[in-house]
Amino acid sequence: MSEFAVEALSIVRTFNDGEVRALDDVTLRVPRGEVFGLLGPNGSGKTTMIRILSTILAPTSGSARVNGFDVVKQAAAVRHSIGLAGQYATVDENLTGFENLRMIGLLNHLDKGYVVKRARELLEQFGLSDAANRTTKTYSGGMRRRLDLGAALVAHPPLLFLDEPTTGLDPQSRQDLWAIIEGLVETGTTVLLTTQYLEEADRLARQLVVLDHGKIIAEGTSQEMKTRLGNTVLSLSFANIDDASRGSALIIGISSTPANVDGTVVEITVDHGPSAAADALRRLDGARITLAGLSLREPSLDDVFLSLTGHRAEDEAFEQDGDKPKGRRGRKART
Ligand SMILES: Nc1ncnc2c1ncn2[C@@H]1O[C@H](COP(=O)(O)OP(=O)(O)O)[C@@H](O)[C@H]1O
Ligand SMILES: [Mg+2]
Repeated sequence: MSEFAVEALSIVRTFNDGEVRALDDVTLRVPRGEVFGLLGPNGSGKTTMIRILSTILAPTSGSARVNGFDVVKQAAAVRHSIGLAGQYATVDENLTGFENLRMIGLLNHLDKGYVVKRARELLEQFGLSDAANRTTKTYSGGMRRRLDLGAALVAHPPLLFLDEPTTGLDPQSRQDLWAIIEGLVETGTTVLLTTQYLEEADRLARQLVVLDHGKIIAEGTSQEMKTRLGNTVLSLSFANIDDASRGSALIIGISSTPANVDGTVVEITVDHGPSAAADALRRLDGARITLAGLSLREPSLDDVFLSLTGHRAEDEAFEQDGDKPKGRRGRKART
């Protein structure tokens, strides 16, 4: 068997007679035993890739092997060797948590006794034992996602596809799911995960591919990507637009990447936040410009995009993203 759990070569997938190129020459290799992250905004092609790899869609061109099986010629074998948890929870609302897992097991032709045992085990593992006999209608979003993940694991697949497992979840549920995914990988499962969150990819994935409009725009470890980007975003807010424009000129040279100006806010990515902040303050102080505010933060996916593509991820990119700060949408100005 190949050393890779997934090997996809030059995948192209078009829709509407070629009008939409959802995937445009995407090659990826997912090593066994780790989390691989497919990162990108809405519409970048993540779900299309997952669908191709899970044999729901055929590629327009290119080829892919999953657990050594060809996704077109050996689709059934691929399907038996993977677990899939989609972007939207697929559990049956009218069944209890336990019944949902049992149904999945039986649909997979697993032994009845085994299915009952496995369902209990998964409910326990994902903190759903107390809710096992409630209909899933009554479950919170986080509980549904955990159950959905459980459903993908009933048959013990060595490879799991997770399509935006935490989009729309509150921070606590997101943390819970991250811990579960880490636990799975510790026990030998390979995970291919799609996400819109750099933070999520950073926490879970060893290697990443960043997609934009169906094309790979960056790949490597998250550390490599961050190093390229600068580790920290220095955000300076000024009293007025005039100060902001003078200020942005003064801080040229603090970082190798250009400053991003949005009204009275100027941001740059830097390697070392505290010394860059001190440097900026010295320069501004020398020109008698007073800051209204200063903050340091981790780069977001938005920042990665800006840096890699020269444009921010489109507004609609984060439509489903409940906790994305609204104020950061739709920025245009850049110097
Ligand atoms: N069945 C389809 N028919 C037409 N266009 C589609 C279909 N599925 C996806 N697309 C288009 O392909 C692109 C990639 O979509 P998708 O893979 O769902 O992106 P993501 O999961 O990253 O949000 C989008 O432009 C989307 O509108
Ligand atoms: Mg999607």
